[in-house]
Amino acid sequence: MDSIRLRSLSHLFLALFLTFAGLGNAMAQEQASGTTAVGSAPGVSKEGVAPGATAGASPATGGGDAAAVAAGDALFKGNCAQCHAVNDVVVGPALKDISKRRPISWIIPWVKNSSKVVASGDEYAVKLFNQYQKQQMPSFQLSDAEITSIVAYIDAEGGKSSQQTAGGVSAGNAAQADGKDGAAASDGSGAGQYVNVLLIVLVVVLIVLVVTLVIIANIMKDVLRGRKDLDGRDVELLESRFDYSKIYKSNAVRGVALTVFVLAILYESVQAAMGVGLTQGYQPTQPIAFSHKLHAGTNQINCAYCHTSVYKSKSANIPSANICMNCHSQIKTESPEIRKIYRAIEKKQPIQWVRIHNLPDLAYFNHSQHTQVGGIECQTCHGPIQNMEVVYQYSALTMGWCINCHRETPLNTKGNGYYNNLVKLHDKANSAAPFTVSSNGGTECSKCHY
Ligand code: HEC
Ligand code: HEC
Ligand code: HEC
Ligand code: HEC
Ligand code: HEC
Ligand code: HEC
Repeated sequence: MDSIRLRSLSHLFLALFLTFAGLGNAMAQEQASGTTAVGSAPGVSKEGVAPGATAGASPATGGGDAAAVAAGDALFKGNCAQCHAVNDVVVGPALKDISKRRPISWIIPWVKNSSKVVASGDEYAVKLFNQYQKQQMPSFQLSDAEITSIVAYIDAEGGKSSQQTAGGVSAGNAAQADGKDGAAASDGSGAGQYVNVLLIVLVVVLIVLVVTLVIIANIMKDVLRGRKDLDGRDVELLESRFDYSKIYKSNAVRGVALTVFVLAILYESVQAAMGVGLTQGYQPTQPIAFSHKLHAGTNQINCAYCHTSVYKSKSANIPSANICMNCHSQIKTESPEIRKIYRAIEKKQPIQWVRIHNLPDLAYFNHSQHTQVGGIECQTCHGPIQNMEVVYQYSALTMGWCINCHRETPLNTKGNGYYNNLVKLHDKANSAAPFTVSSNGGTECSKCHY
């Protein structure tokens, strides 16, 4: 009787197990075929990664799966994040749903050389270019696959945020929709979803296995207990319980735990040491609740109205209370925050703003060189200040950050006779690469340290 029950039970679980295993296998295959198809897309460059791209973003990762999204993430942060965010306008437009707005066959040539697309008279491009005050987006030497992975990353990010707001649309849906419009489109970023399903299936299979084993063990014990011919040792074994104290008494387990612990501490200390002097994200509370969003955003007051020296000299000054009084002798005179300005003037003491950005003295940085001569927007380095209630340090301000930009940013040499010969020499030596700040010596130590 017992053995019959046992057999039918085990058949049932075997059937369940095979179903799940089959399901998981089918999904794995579907995913694998998806990635190979995209991975072998034409245009996967073998020339290596463009400047600024991180090592993780190797050209081989062309798929729309999690790896491509991760590669896209790194490429986006290294090349695009200074001007673009997924959900906000920074210097360029918000890129959310870009793959729905534009086919991939448009995006790729655009990123490679946007001015060529504008010059070709493409209606959408010309309109966009004018809308953004004719600001030129730099050209990028990225491969088709790399650009596709950036788009996959943007889709994944965009999907995430719409999930938060609308609660409905998933990353997978967004990716499926864009898969229709282009040849090499990132049909695979929905694969992230399959990976999740696969994981759930595997966990279910494991649970089923464990439950099956426990049931089988219990049934066997019952069967054995029914037998009369067992000797003392068999009975002892049968009734013995698992001794948990053995686990932490074991030297091997202790050794592994100690190693993990030491490694974790080491990792944390190295991270902490690397972060010394890094203050990205620093956002102190200011003595007066001054809002850039209200002044520079809503009321559109020009940055240089307050930071008067930013186009003219090395440092951008913080405005004195007198500049505030140009308006606040009339505006909001009863507000307790504005009264603080009056009090500072009465006491003849400056307002004690807390400094946010601060390079170490060993480095030389000049604002006018970048804003006036280089024509770089404040937001490229300081982020969306016009949306900040309280200012925070947007960029890392590390040496690597300065140098990466100097390597990537083409120098505006047009109409400047000083550069004519330099550009000619550069083009003779390496005509494929643009004439960047670093081509002009902008990565020489003495330019920033002396
Ligand atoms: C220096 C700033 C800057 C950088 C860096 C930059 N962009 Fe742009 N981007 C712009 C501007 C400005 C526009 C608006 C069009 C114009 O004025 O040329 C734009 C437009 C776009 C558009 C069209 C958007 C739309 O709404 O149709 C796409 C796509 C795009 N950029 C992708 C990228 C990608 C991908 C990267 C990184 C590899 C990148 N951009 C890096 C400034 C930048
Ligand atoms: C009405 C005057 C006013 C305008 C307009 C204004 N700012 Fe400011 N800004 C201030 C004041 C006051 C502070 C110091 C208090 C603070 O940090 O909020 C400041 C601080 C800053 C800081 C941080 C300085 C530090 O301590 O490191 C940055 C960066 C900055 N502004 C950039 C901008 C940019 C970019 C714009 C234009 C989009 C702008 N500001 C427009 C008044 C102004
Ligand atoms: C060009 C005009 C202008 C200048 C200069 C200016 N502000 Fe303002 N400020 C405004 C306007 C407009 C408002 C919004 C008033 C409203 O909400 O009705 C405002 C609002 C404020 C508020 C919010 C007041 C409240 O209780 O709602 C504070 C605080 C403030 N400003 C501080 C400053 C400080 C500090 C300075 C100098 C660094 C400054 N402002 C310079 C125009 C100016
Ligand atoms: C190329 C990057 C870059 C650009 C573009 C840029 N800044 Fe800065 N800004 C910095 C750095 C770096 C510092 C820190 C300087 C230091 O500590 O010596 C800084 C500091 C500041 C400060 C604090 C005062 C000071 O000079 O240390 C203000 C205010 C400021 N920037 C405003 C602006 C405004 C307004 C613009 C646009 C007109 C702008 N910045 C454009 C990189 C930039
Ligand atoms: C967003 C891009 C960007 C960032 C970030 C940036 N720079 Fe620059 N930098 C430029 C450009 C563009 C020029 C060239 C301006 C010109 O001469 O047309 C330049 C020029 C310079 C020069 C003059 C180089 C020469 O050949 O004469 C120095 C020095 C310099 N930067 C220092 C720094 C330091 C220090 C930092 C970091 C704190 C920094 N820059 C961050 C874009 C950047
Ligand atoms: C474009 C500007 C720029 C150039 C070029 C540059 N540096 Fe720096 N360097 C910086 C800035 C900004 C810092 C401070 C930020 C930091 O500590 O990361 C810095 C910091 C340093 C430090 C201190 C490191 C630390 O963590 O405090 C050393 C050492 C240094 N640089 C050496 C060099 C050498 C050597 C070269 C030439 C191969 C060089 N730098 C070229 C901008 C530059």
